[in-house]
Amino acid sequence: MDYDKLTEKYLKIKPYLNDKELFYYKFVEDFDIENTYHSNAIEGNTLTLMETSLVLEGCSIGSKDMRELFEVVNHSKAFNYIFETKDNNKPIIDIEDILKIHSMILNNIDDYNKGVYRRVNVGIRGTNIIFPFPNDLPKLMAEFNNWFVEKQKIGIMHPVELASKAHFELVNIHPFIDGNGRTSRLLMNMVLLKNKYPPIMIKVEEKLEYINALNETRDNKTNAFDKFIYKKMDERLDSLLELSKDFEVEKDISEKPKSKKKSQDRER
Ligand SMILES: Nc1ncnc2c1ncn2[C@@H]1O[C@H](COP(=O)(O)OP(=O)(O)OP(=O)(O)O)[C@@H](O)[C@H]1O
Ligand SMILES: [Mg+2]
Repeated sequence: MDYDKLTEKYLKIKPYLNDKELFYYKFVEDFDIENTYHSNAIEGNTLTLMETSLVLEGCSIGSKDMRELFEVVNHSKAFNYIFETKDNNKPIIDIEDILKIHSMILNNIDDYNKGVYRRVNVGIRGTNIIFPFPNDLPKLMAEFNNWFVEKQKIGIMHPVELASKAHFELVNIHPFIDGNGRTSRLLMNMVLLKNKYPPIMIKVEEKLEYINALNETRDNKTNAFDKFIYKKMDERLDSLLELSKDFEVEKDISEKPKSKKKSQDRER
């Protein structure tokens, strides 16, 4: 993996990402709906993309459990929360942020367990994977936090690599009773957003590739997961570069700042 190459690509798109309004309306609002759909579908939520979109507009879907509806609303709220905190005055992400994300993910679904470490053993059905014992979680999370905060302070590791590694480590500690995957994917995007990188999404169709990469890295200590996330970001930057070309053209024709126009289009 050549992270310098990724940086080069990123620098081409950076001016567009720096326009806060444009970044949100063109690159994030639709992303949130799609990403909420995919991240929840990976976890087993049965709502379609259209149903997810309707729920986020405030509609109820009669035939679905409240739990599934809350999963949609919670994921979107958590994503918007990390989007808002990308420019706040707390530059370092830490354990508090992770607990906050998890708390938002399980809100109204499992209020007893939201934002707290699990008290029971968990594994993955159909595999021989057993995650750390509950008694070891505070220590493992403290070690993870030290590593994570240190890496951010030193700032040498490429943000995409740090995002990938933070996701990998958290999901392997598996500190929560449920929601570890969603929380880890949101943490990964929080690292990217804090570093002014665009968020990425793992699609439900890619679930097998995603799980295989996680397992491969865990079992054989390879960089398969970093590679997978690198590829996702590489593709994301390519598609944003394509989008930014349209933006240039539209801007030339309308001679209006596109960011303003887009926000008006979006008013409902
Ligand atoms: N072999 C595996 N099979 C399934 N998941 C695995 C495996 N190895 C690691 N995992 C991780 O465990 C996560 C599932 O944990 P958990 O159910 O707590 O999270 P979730 O957010 O509810 O679900 P999901 O992550 O599937 O959306 C997966 O997303 C994945 O990141
Ligand atoms: Mg789950």
